[in-house]
Amino acid sequence: MKRRHFLFGAGALAVGGWWLRPDNRGAAHNAYFQSLNDTLKQHGPGRPLMLIDRQRLIGNCRALVQMLPSHCQLRIVAKSLPSVPLIQEVMTHTGSQRVMVFHQPFMNALVDAEPGADLLLGKPMPIQAARRFYTELGDTHPFKPDQQLQWLIDSPTRLEQYLTLAREQNRQLNINIEIDVGLHRGGLTDPQQLDAMIELIEAHPEQLRFSGFMGYDAHVGKLPAFIQSAEEGHRETEAIYQRYIDRLYQLNPAYQQQTLCFNGAGSPTVALYDNTTVVNELSAGSCLVKASDFDLPLLKDFQPAAFIAAPVLKQLDGLALPGPLPLGELWQGWDSNRRRTYFIYGGYWKAEPVSPPGIQANPVYGVSTNQMMYNGSPDTALQVDDQLFFRPTQSEFVLLQFGDLAVWDNRALADWWPPLSQGNGA
Ligand SMILES: Cc1ncc(COP(=O)(O)O)c(C=O)c1O
Repeated sequence: MKRRHFLFGAGALAVGGWWLRPDNRGAAHNAYFQSLNDTLKQHGPGRPLMLIDRQRLIGNCRALVQMLPSHCQLRIVAKSLPSVPLIQEVMTHTGSQRVMVFHQPFMNALVDAEPGADLLLGKPMPIQAARRFYTELGDTHPFKPDQQLQWLIDSPTRLEQYLTLAREQNRQLNINIEIDVGLHRGGLTDPQQLDAMIELIEAHPEQLRFSGFMGYDAHVGKLPAFIQSAEEGHRETEAIYQRYIDRLYQLNPAYQQQTLCFNGAGSPTVALYDNTTVVNELSAGSCLVKASDFDLPLLKDFQPAAFIAAPVLKQLDGLALPGPLPLGELWQGWDSNRRRTYFIYGGYWKAEPVSPPGIQANPVYGVSTNQMMYNGSPDTALQVDDQLFFRPTQSEFVLLQFGDLAVWDNRALADWWPPLSQGNGA
């Protein structure tokens, strides 16, 4: 290549690079986060916290109740709100006693605190976990599983196991059958598969009672709209669900006279259900704290109500990256959003920085669960002991990582809610 061409090319690259420089996206905390920041700086424990904004949580409960079709009850999804006092708060503000549960230690903790709760399993439990639930419950507990608990059964083999457990426990178990409405995560795939299961249940009325269906539709709305819109996907799940109900009523019309639980939905789809739905119960949990995975057009009426606050341990001017090359200097020269470096207490959660604006992780420096590096423009203006705020991307796992949840209410730290225990040894 001729020298003249090379110089021209390099010059064009430099000018182009200069034009492509990222804008300064930095700003200080807004009033909401500044008030949280100041309170935590003065009265916080000086470690990363998971905050629950109580007023926003209550507002979300109202929004959810308002969108329920008139014939549908709400079932609160416990795994997405993994703390007994958090669920109790949601029970109070939604008026629902129904909870979908996914974890044996949490089932026992919940019924100890809320013996009036009505439980439906959200996944089939290994028979050992079911047995352990009864052992820990004991015989004198005010929670009456024969009336207040439905086990989820996905296959004839599991139904046989639960029949054995019912005999062992000398109880009648309520059997809710998992049906595949398109998610393809197990459960019955053809209404005819009901025949043998209903026959087995009806052959053992002392031990088993059919109590309904659960058909979860998390696949709806996940496809690009030109392949299938959320509304079309929803109509399809409704049609599949209806076929199971029809088969049930064909097998035994007496079920039409019984109160059965036809459970469906989850946060991403709950807004699609209207008065024409074939289900009579809708599940939702995540939308009430609205982690960032739930920033969906259908959930626009819900506000984020869970934030991680992490103290800034170190504030450095500029960006210094290890090694002989002046990479950090060049980078901060090009991108003003790299001109401050913050090391925080903890990090690498399933979470995205949300305040101050324009904060980002450094992909070259790498991640750390101990002291993670973040960069921002000088306008982010954080000092040591200020807080960086994050939104969890999902709630079910991240809410368990910080010890007690810090309840933010009326601009003060108002309470501490212990998260769910993962269980202890035998
Ligand atoms: C069976 C079932 N129903 C409903 C939900 C929806 O929960 P959320 O509202 O928290 O998304 C889930 C979540 O995984 C689920 O497994």
